Amino acid sequence: MVRPTQEPVAFEQQQQQQQQQQQQQTPQRTSEASDSDGVVDEKHNALLPPTAAATQKKRKNGGGLDLDQADKASLSNRLKTFRKSFKYLYNLTPQQVDDFMASYVIYNLDWADEAQMVAELGPNYREKVGECLKSYYSIMNHLCALGDVEKMYIPPFMDKNASVIENQLLYEKAIAREIGLDTLGLRVLDIGCGRGRVAAHMATATGALVTGLNIDPNQVAQAREFSVERSLRNEFIVRDFNDLPLPFADASFDAFYQIQALSLCKDLGGLFREIHRVVRPGAKISLLDWASLPAYDASNPEHVALMRRVKPLIGAVGTPTPRSLEKALEDAGFVVLRSENASQGDLQTPLIERVDVYFRAMRQIILGLVKLRCLPAHFKTLINRLCLDGEAFVKMDTMRLITTSYWIVAEKPQ
Ligand SMILES: C[S@@+](CC[C@H](N)C(=O)[O-])C[C@H]1O[C@@H](n2cnc3c(N)ncnc32)[C@H](O)[C@@H]1O
Repeated sequence: MVRPTQEPVAFEQQQQQQQQQQQQQTPQRTSEASDSDGVVDEKHNALLPPTAAATQKKRKNGGGLDLDQADKASLSNRLKTFRKSFKYLYNLTPQQVDDFMASYVIYNLDWADEAQMVAELGPNYREKVGECLKSYYSIMNHLCALGDVEKMYIPPFMDKNASVIENQLLYEKAIAREIGLDTLGLRVLDIGCGRGRVAAHMATATGALVTGLNIDPNQVAQAREFSVERSLRNEFIVRDFNDLPLPFADASFDAFYQIQALSLCKDLGGLFREIHRVVRPGAKISLLDWASLPAYDASNPEHVALMRRVKPLIGAVGTPTPRSLEKALEDAGFVVLRSENASQGDLQTPLIERVDVYFRAMRQIILGLVKLRCLPAHFKTLINRLCLDGEAFVKMDTMRLITTSYWIVAEKPQ
């Protein structure tokens, strides 16, 4: 296993030059000052062109970590985000809630067992899974946005003094470094792009132009809005990545990354071949995903019972292993450069527990408010489902049976 560690040295110099040029060309905007909740303490810096923002001096965040302006500019206004998602959830129809709950059927299935898929969902199971994914994520993204996981992923545990969000930012910078986002204007593909928040961070930190692809129109709409608000030029399209080929020309991207969406891919080999086609020779790609680890024993009833609880919690259909991911990449023509658990000590538990504790506390408040009839009853249904089985996730992580921070970096040879 090769571990490249090269820093983007030329990038800083290049950014400074670009910053000078752009400051001459681009008037500063001040129109969104009322959005500030204190995360970005110099509002106009958040609205500077990405390259200018990225070169601002680091300053201390309320938490523990030094965040630079690119980090801050990429963050959501937490209060506004919370309010919007809460309102969305408040106004859900009974049908939406029913569809969300019914969508969990797919997490009891696995792509590897096609007969079971067909028995449960019928011969057109791929389309059925797609419908379930839309019903699930159109609500899940708002539930997650009530807490620290608007980006809908628990990041690798990289810094014990950093919050969940800060660990996400640290990890995203590591992706940018590893896939070589060291030149302005590089074209990058992000599949399963959530609400486009990771894409926004990539763009502000590196000057890349990110194309995000997502099956859920609800998230894509939010990603577009977020991008426009920040004067970014990222693009987002609604598309099921199980619907191949991908709608891009050969060699149209300089790099690729994805975060925790691969278990929802029916045909990993087919998707990787498509990614290989749409990135240029020499491009690097980064995958962060959930993987079943060698210690997991499919003949051990305890392991199997834990797996049955954890898959719905984290929203996983397939159960790839590090080796199955590596092999599918190699078969598609990539060379694997890095393949490891990206969490310190191969343990994500400290971050999983923080998220779990937060949502359990929120659950208590929500249950109380539903009881007092201050909130509609469906909040109880949703929060109970969301908080189910957090301890099983922690247990599997501490037993090193699974992880959601398995990181692979690969390259398409020249
Ligand atoms: C666990 S979340 C990962 C978070 C995400 N990478 C981010 O940037 O916030 C999985 C994401 O993949 C998307 N997704 C799931 N299945 C998909 C599919 N078949 N095609 C395209 N996007 C999909 C979901 O809507 C969701 O945004």
